[in-house]
Amino acid sequence: MKDSPITLIQPDDWHLHLRSGAALRSVVGMSAAQMGRAIIMPNLTPPITNTTQALAYQTEIMAALPAGCKFEPLMTLYLTDNTTPQDIRVASGLIKAVKLYPAGTTTNSANGVTNIGAIYPALEAMQKAGMPLLVHGEVAEYEVDIFDREAVFIEKILTKIVKDFPDLKVVFEHITTKNAADFVLASSNKIAATITAHHLLANRNDMLVGGIKPHYFCLPVLKRAKPHQAALLAAATSNSGKFFLGTDSAPHAKSDKESACGCAGIFSAHCAIELYAQAFEEQDAVDKLEGFASKFGADFYNLPYNTNTITLVKREWVVPNEYPLGNSTVVPFMAGKKLGWQLKTD
Ligand code: NCD
Ligand code: ZN
Repeated sequence: MKDSPITLIQPDDWHLHLRSGAALRSVVGMSAAQMGRAIIMPNLTPPITNTTQALAYQTEIMAALPAGCKFEPLMTLYLTDNTTPQDIRVASGLIKAVKLYPAGTTTNSANGVTNIGAIYPALEAMQKAGMPLLVHGEVAEYEVDIFDREAVFIEKILTKIVKDFPDLKVVFEHITTKNAADFVLASSNKIAATITAHHLLANRNDMLVGGIKPHYFCLPVLKRAKPHQAALLAAATSNSGKFFLGTDSAPHAKSDKESACGCAGIFSAHCAIELYAQAFEEQDAVDKLEGFASKFGADFYNLPYNTNTITLVKREWVVPNEYPLGNSTVVPFMAGKKLGWQLKTD
C-alpha cells in the first residue's frame, strides 16, 4: 500500500568512494548505517594497485568504523598499464574486483590505463580467476564531446573487450546513457551495470539551468532527461538482474567543488537508500527496489544476501546543507531539500 513502510533485505553498495584518513572517518559511518557491504573504489592518491595496499586500506576502513557498526568493505585494485597476471593471481580470493579507469577520465585517474592492449594479459588472468572487471566507461580524448564519451567508449573499447574475453565478468559502472543500458541488456549474463541514485533523480538541466551547480557535477556527467535518464529509470526498475545499486558516492571538500575548476563527484552516502526509494516510488516500482538494492549485486558477485533487514518509513525530513569532512565540509546531494523516505533507526 502507498506510504506503508518498506522493509528490505539490507542493501549493499557496489560502487563507493570512502577516501582515507580524516575524510574516511567522517563518511564511513553513513554507508555502514545503511549498507551491509560495499565495493570500495581504489582511486586514492597514490592509487591502490596491489593486494598489500588494498588489505592495508581495508584494515584502515575497519578501524575507522564507528563502534558497534557492522560493515564489510570489499576491496578492489586500480588497473594500470603495468598490472601483471601475477598481480591478479596474488589478488585472487582476497580482492573482489579490478577497476579500469581510462587515464584522464575522472578524479585520480592520471595513473589509469593509457593503452587497452597493455592490460590484455591482466584481463586474461582475471577471466581465468573469475575476477570481475569494473569499468569507468568513458574515453578521454579531447575531441570527443563530454556528453558522448560513454557512447564512444562502448563503440571503441567495451565492445572489443567483451568480444575478446567472452567469459570475463564486467560491471559497466555508473551508467548514464540509453546506449549503455541497451548494451548491457543485449550482452551475455557476464555483463552487468551499476546505476547511481543521482543519475536516476537528476539530469543535465538540474546542473545547468539557472546557473552552474557544482554539486551536481560528476563523471560521467549527467545526461538528458530523454532518452537517457528515462532509460536508466527503466533499467533500474526492470527486475532484469543486470542492473544493481552503486551509489558512486564521492565526497569532496566544499571548496574543491565550489571553485573556478570544480572537481567531479557527488556525495550521496548520507541518504542513498532513501534516494533510490524516491526514484523507484516515482516509477511506481517500489516492489522492484529489493532486487536492485539487495539481491542482484550479490548474485553477480556470487555472495550470499545479507541476513538482516532495514526499514524505510514515509516521513519528510530536510537534508542538511553540509556534513563534516575531515577539517572541511562536504555538501551532500539534495542539500536543503525535502526527502519523503527515511531510514528507521531504532
Ligand atoms: C569520482 C571521485 O570523486 O572519486 N568522481 C565522480 O565524479 N564520480 C570518481 C569516479 O567514480 O569517476
Ligand atoms: Zn566512482
